[in-house]
Amino acid sequence: MSRRIFLATGGALLGILAAGSGGVGYILHKLNRIGSRSNDFHSTEEKLLRSALFRAYPPLAQHIPWISLGDLPTPIEKLGSSLGLPEGKLWVKRDDLTSPVYGGNKVRKLEHLLEDARLRGRKSLITIGGLGSNHSLATAIHGGRQGLNVHLCLSDQPVTKYVRRNLAGFLAAGAKIHYCQNTKDAYRYSRRLFRELKGKGEAPYFILSGGTCGLSNVGHVNAAFEIAEQVKAGLLPEPDKLFVAAGTCGTISGLIAGLKIAGLSTRVVGVRVVDSFPAYPYIIRYYAQKVADYLRKYDRSIPRVRIEKADFDLLTNYLGGGYGVVTVGGKEAVEQAASRISLETTYTGKTLAACLDYCRKADLEEKILFWNSYNSAEFEQSPNYDGLPDEIMQKLSL
Ligand SMILES: Cc1ncc(COP(=O)(O)O)c(C=O)c1O
Repeated sequence: MSRRIFLATGGALLGILAAGSGGVGYILHKLNRIGSRSNDFHSTEEKLLRSALFRAYPPLAQHIPWISLGDLPTPIEKLGSSLGLPEGKLWVKRDDLTSPVYGGNKVRKLEHLLEDARLRGRKSLITIGGLGSNHSLATAIHGGRQGLNVHLCLSDQPVTKYVRRNLAGFLAAGAKIHYCQNTKDAYRYSRRLFRELKGKGEAPYFILSGGTCGLSNVGHVNAAFEIAEQVKAGLLPEPDKLFVAAGTCGTISGLIAGLKIAGLSTRVVGVRVVDSFPAYPYIIRYYAQKVADYLRKYDRSIPRVRIEKADFDLLTNYLGGGYGVVTVGGKEAVEQAASRISLETTYTGKTLAACLDYCRKADLEEKILFWNSYNSAEFEQSPNYDGLPDEIMQKLSL
């Protein structure tokens, strides 16, 4: 709390100083000086080099905990003709390539969370998710590489081949796995585990399901600023619509806020892939507004934006039988895209199915961007499932 007050005050002071001297060079000079504080993992120059958001608003680089975990910006590619659409109609943001170790949308969130954990001196991470949670896998791999002990509290979901693969990945990354029957049980268990680890001096850091929270949502504001830079550089036309999976809604909220702050008129279309909470319009709006306000606190030159429910769409008719349940459309979309990008059936398959349906009936002039949020890097997998709790082993043998 006191650090926050300190940072906010520092930001205001910096703004006054910068306004008084009137020069970007002066701001950078000030930032670089403060950026050399020993608890900053990256220098300010490095942060500006790697983050489109920090490049647009340099004072943020001083205040937002962030560590680079991979390769940003991610590329933009044409996808249309490989899917039977006119060339230049459909584009893909290759966020599967956010990191060569393990990519996908979770990397952008963890870049903030892992640095926040480090600054707070935490030694272990606790997070929750389904049995095949990509967020849990990203946390296990990237958290483990930062020297943290990772605990995963996992609850039931249908056991597909992707789930088996991720379970083998958790084990290879050295994560400790705890079985919980459902999400409620996982939250209850994680609270107990938090107290236990704290008692043992392991200083745990808790990450909410899907890695979504006020701080981590900044990751996708940065992603929106990448799009703005890529449009400006002529790498793609300004998209009319952007299709993205909506699970815990950190990804979609950050994108909505970021596009609005960056002044793009791209409309975000979320495809709901979870049965209920938190994928509701009012939650998305809340998160998007919160992250926009949070950033503005540290740099008053960021335009004040008001996020409305009318700013985005949330499609609910591609979920099928529920979270993780394979749909015919989702499976077909995965197969159709396979020659170009590797998707799965829980998130990106359903999202691409919605996106293709839209593209087929959309105005010829409309340009559509599909957000590939699923990791495509090969990751280490344990050759067996030794180390999994008995309850999970039983499910695998069914
Ligand atoms: C591949 C993939 N895409 C999209 C999402 C949804 O992201 P969010 O939880 O930020 O809505 C997830 C979440 O786990 C995911 O694993």
